[in-house]
Amino acid sequence: MVPPMIELSSVTKRYGALAALDGVDLSVAPGAFVALVGGSGSGKTTLLKTINGLIRPDSGHIAVAGDDVSAAEPHALRRRIGYVFQEVGLFPHLTVAENIAITPKLLGWDAARRAARVAELLDLVALPQEVAARAPSALSGGQRQRVGVARALAAEPRLMLMDEPFGALDPITRDALGADYRALHERLGLTTVMVTHDMAEAVLLADRVVVLAGGRILADGAPAELLAQSRDPTVRALLEAPKRQAERLRERLGA
Ligand SMILES: Nc1ncnc2c1ncn2[C@@H]1O[C@H](COP(=O)(O)OP(=O)(O)O)[C@@H](O)[C@H]1O
Ligand SMILES: [Mg+2]
Repeated sequence: MVPPMIELSSVTKRYGALAALDGVDLSVAPGAFVALVGGSGSGKTTLLKTINGLIRPDSGHIAVAGDDVSAAEPHALRRRIGYVFQEVGLFPHLTVAENIAITPKLLGWDAARRAARVAELLDLVALPQEVAARAPSALSGGQRQRVGVARALAAEPRLMLMDEPFGALDPITRDALGADYRALHERLGLTTVMVTHDMAEAVLLADRVVVLAGGRILADGAPAELLAQSRDPTVRALLEAPKRQAERLRERLGA
């Protein structure tokens, strides 16, 4: 049997008296596209960071593709898990190509292999080859996010963790990047967990929505399933918002 790509059992992480994660159980199948939603401070970033070992939980167990994360070697984890940060986090003094090749360099790939991989990744995220030599500051916000995605994919991970990857972008760029990323997820056979506070984005991109509140999972299921079954008022309000918005748009635009 194929193990789940991600398995969390009773994961708790405390900061003093506050439980950022409070007994989280979560299993994500290979190939799934999960949206992780919840208010500010609900534990979304903490959850992502426990999965790739950046944060160690106080108790509980985490496995990626069947392997215990607490026992994993950091390089091996970096190769296997792509991480796109909330604030992109490109190094300003490195070129785009050097930013993308950070993990391959850590893994000891030679210069020729790194250059070939950078060229391939720029194509993959639909950026022109000429941006390779530029500084990140010479790119638009959307292009920088594409570099962030390319960097995360550099060592061919099977799992992608993305923390509000498109949060700071204008709606048109955001929509295009979301759709392009979903296509990449399919093409590369990835497993993706994407944090977003935009419920419409979650419903449009993900097959499964996990709602966090106060470090606990409040709801977990396919968007239509949650809308039909959840009695929790917070979950209902979250899911009904994009539906109401779509209806209002249809009325106003007469489409
Ligand atoms: N390093 C830290 N020290 C103290 N409290 C923290 C730290 N990191 C996160 N927290 C707290 O844990 C809770 C969850 O944080 P976080 O996972 O960043 O939430 P989210 O990403 O959903 O906004 C918040 O209340 C936050 O203030
Ligand atoms: Mg966060």
